[in-house]
Amino acid sequence: MGIWRGSLPLLLLAAAAAAEPASTLEGPSWPVTVPLREDRGHAVDLPDTDPRVQRRVTGWAPEQIAVALSAAPTSAWVSWITGDFQMGGAVKPLDPGTVGSVVRYGLAADSLVREATGDALVYSQLYPFEGLQNYTSGIIHHVRLQGLEPGTKYYYQCGDPAIPGATSAVHAFRTMPAVGPRSYPGRIAVVGDLGLTYNTTSTVEHMASNQPDLVLLLGDVSYANLYLTNGTGTDCYSCSFAKSTPIHETYQPRWDYWGRYMESVTSTTPMMVVEGNHEIEQQIGNKTFAAYSARFAFPSKESDSFSPFYYSFDAGGIHFIMLAAYAAYSKSGEQYRWLEKDLAKVDRSVTPWLVAGWHAPWYSTYKAHYREAECMRVAMEELLYSYGLDIVFTGHVCNVTPSDLQYL
Ligand SMILES: *[C@@H]1O[C@H](CO)[C@@H](O)[C@H](O)[C@H]1NC(C)=O
Ligand SMILES: *[C@@H]1O[C@H](CO)[C@@H](O)[C@H](O)[C@H]1NC(C)=O
Ligand SMILES: *[C@@H]1O[C@H](CO)[C@@H](O)[C@H](O)[C@H]1NC(C)=O
Ligand SMILES: *[C@@H]1O[C@H](CO)[C@@H](O)[C@H](O)[C@H]1NC(C)=O
Repeated sequence: MGIWRGSLPLLLLAAAAAAEPASTLEGPSWPVTVPLREDRGHAVDLPDTDPRVQRRVTGWAPEQIAVALSAAPTSAWVSWITGDFQMGGAVKPLDPGTVGSVVRYGLAADSLVREATGDALVYSQLYPFEGLQNYTSGIIHHVRLQGLEPGTKYYYQCGDPAIPGATSAVHAFRTMPAVGPRSYPGRIAVVGDLGLTYNTTSTVEHMASNQPDLVLLLGDVSYANLYLTNGTGTDCYSCSFAKSTPIHETYQPRWDYWGRYMESVTSTTPMMVVEGNHEIEQQIGNKTFAAYSARFAFPSKESDSFSPFYYSFDAGGIHFIMLAAYAAYSKSGEQYRWLEKDLAKVDRSVTPWLVAGWHAPWYSTYKAHYREAECMRVAMEELLYSYGLDIVFTGHVCNVTPSDLQYL
C-alpha cells in the first residue's frame, strides 16, 4: 500500500521499562522481532521535589501547555492549566469562569494577529472514605484554532489577556501536512506506558532529540494510580495496598507533575493520547477516567465519535484511528458503529495509509497481559482487516515485541 514519501518516518517504540533495539538516532533499521526481556528492571519515579515537576508559574499564568491535532490539518487544539490544584479534605473546586481561555496566534512571534476562544473546566477526584484525601484540579482550558494552513509553523500565546500576568510566553508548533497521498509527516514518535520515572525522562529526551512532527501516546500516562491519596507510591500497587484500602486510590498531583515535565514537548509538538488501563482511576459514584477526559483535547466532535475514548484524524496521507480498549467495543455498541462509519468514509486515494492505535495488544506472547484484549480482537479485527488496515500500534506490554503479519 504505497510508500512513505520523503524521509522514512521514524517510529520510536518506547516503553518506560524497555530499551533494547538499536537507537532510533542511528536508524532507520530493518524491523526485527526481539526476544522478550526477562528482567523488567526497576523504574524509579521522579519525586515531587524534582524541579521538573514543580509549579514554575505564579498567579493565573498558564502551565502544562499542550497542542493536539483536530481531525484535519487545518485545525488544532491548544490546552493549558491555570491556578493550582488542591489536595486534602474539604477541597473547593475553582470556578472555571474565573480565567478566560484565549489563544492569540499567527505566522510570526511578533504578529499574533488571530484570536480563538474556548472552554474551561475543572475536575475532581473524590474518595468518600475515612482517611483518604480528595483532589480538585486547576482550571483546564481547551481552545480550538481553525482555518490554519497545513504544514505551517504557528506561533501562539495562551491565557487570559484581560488579567495581568495571565498569558504564556510565545510558543510554536507546526500543523500536519495537507491531506493527500503525496505529503507525510516526516517523523512520528509512538510511545506508550510513559509514566514519570527517570526512565521516562531518558525516553522523552531521546524522543525530543529526534524532533518528531507528531507524538502518539498509546495510553498509560502518569501512573497516578500507583499512589495512595497521601502521596505514598509503589511500583506494584496491588502487591502493597490491595487489602488495606477501600478503593484503588490515586494521587492526582502526579498528573500535574507529568503535565509540567512534558510541557517542553507538548507545547511544541502535537500529541494525540488514547486511554490505557492506568487512566481508569475509579472514584466516588463509580466515576472513571476523570483526569484523562478533562486534561486532554481530542478531535471527538470533529471526527463524529463524540467520545474522548476513540476518534480519528488525518495527517498528510495517513488516516489515524485511535480506539478504546477500555470502553465498550462490542458489535452492537457505539464505538463499533462509529468505526464502521469512519472506515467507510476513508478514501484510500487521498489517505493511502490507514493506521490504528490503542492500548492493549491483540497479539502478544508476554505472560503478564496474555490475551487480555481478546474480546476486543474478536469484536473488531474482521472489520479493520476488511478495510486493509496497514499498521497497528499498541502499548500495555512493557516489553518490546515488534510483530510480523498476525491476522490468521
Ligand atoms: C472527599 O469528598 C467526599 C465527597 O464529597 C466526602 O464524602 C469526603 O468526606 C471528602 N473527604 C474528606 C477527607 O473531606
Ligand atoms: C532505568 O533507569 C535506571 C536509573 O533510574 C537505570 O539504572 C536503568 O538502566 C534504566 N532502565 C532502562 C531499561 O533503561
Ligand atoms: C500513607 O498511607 C500508608 C498506608 O496507610 C502509610 O503506610 C504511609 O506511611 C502513609 N504515608 C504518609 C506520607 O503519610
Ligand atoms: C458501583 O459499582 C459496583 C460494582 O460494579 C456496584 O455494586 C455499585 O452499585 C455501583 N455504585 C454506583 C453508585 O453506581
